[in-house]
Amino acid sequence: MRIDVISIFPAYLQALDLSLIGKARTGGLLRLDVHDLRDFTTDRHRTVDDTPYGGGAGMVMKPEPWAQALTAVLDEDRAPAEDAVVETRPVLVIPSPAGEVFRQSTAHELAEAEHLVFACGRYEGIDERVAQWAEERYTVRPLSIGDYVLNGGEVATLAMVEAIVRLIPGVIGNPGSLTEESHADGLLEYPMYTKPASWRGLDVPEVLLSGDHGRIARWRHEQQLARTADRRPDLLPPTV
Ligand SMILES: C[S@@+](CC[C@H](N)C(=O)[O-])C[C@H]1O[C@@H](n2cnc3c(N)ncnc32)[C@H](O)[C@@H]1O
Repeated sequence: MRIDVISIFPAYLQALDLSLIGKARTGGLLRLDVHDLRDFTTDRHRTVDDTPYGGGAGMVMKPEPWAQALTAVLDEDRAPAEDAVVETRPVLVIPSPAGEVFRQSTAHELAEAEHLVFACGRYEGIDERVAQWAEERYTVRPLSIGDYVLNGGEVATLAMVEAIVRLIPGVIGNPGSLTEESHADGLLEYPMYTKPASWRGLDVPEVLLSGDHGRIARWRHEQQLARTADRRPDLLPPTV
C-alpha cells in the first residue's frame, strides 16, 4: 500500500515512524510519504489560508496549494486517467468533523486500497471546491473520527492510518488478534487478565483458570454482550 499525507505540520506525523507502522514501512509493506503543503505555495510568505467568503470567524485553506499538492502526489506515480473506474482510483481522505464517521468497517474498506492520500485541514478547513475538483482523479472520502472538533486533521489521520495499516496482511504478527477484538464481530471485547491470578486483593475470574475452553468461550461471549449493552447499547442488534 502507498499512503501520502499532506499537512502544514509534517512533524506531527513523525509518530508514523514508530512501532508496527514503522516496521511495515521498513519491511516494504507500506510506502508512506509526508508532504508539507507550504512547499506547494508560490508567494514569499508561503500562504495557505485566507478569509472566508460570506464573513465569519477564522480562516479557510486556499484551494490552489491543495490542487498543486494533490496533483504532485499523483504525478509521482503514473497519474490515473480522469475516466479511470472509481475502484482503481486513489482514495483522497479529507478528515473533517463534518464527514461520515470512520468505523472499523471503513478501516477494512480502505485497507483494500492501493493508494490513500490524507489531506489534513487546519483553521476552519479546506475550501469546499478542492473536494469537488479532486473528484476527477480521486475517490473522495470526507471522514470524521468522532463527534468532537480537533484543531487539525493530523491527529485524525494518525488514528485512521493506524487503524487501516494494522489490517494489511503481515503488519500484525498474530492475525488472530484481528478477529478477537472490539468491533471485529460488532461487539466490544471481553475483559482481559494476565498474571498474577491474585493482585492487590482482586482475583482473575475462576473460569479463566479452569482450562475448560468451552466454558471460557461461553463466559467471554456473555461478557461481550454485557459490556456492549452497558457501554455501547447502540451497537447491539435491535430486538424483535
Ligand atoms: C477546527 S477544525 C474545522 C472545523 C470545521 N470548521 C467544522 O466546523 O466542521 C480544523 C480541521 O481539523 C480536522 N478535524 C477536526 N475535528 C475532526 C474530526 N472529528 N474528525 C476528523 N478531522 C477533524 C479537520 O481536518 C478540520 O479541517
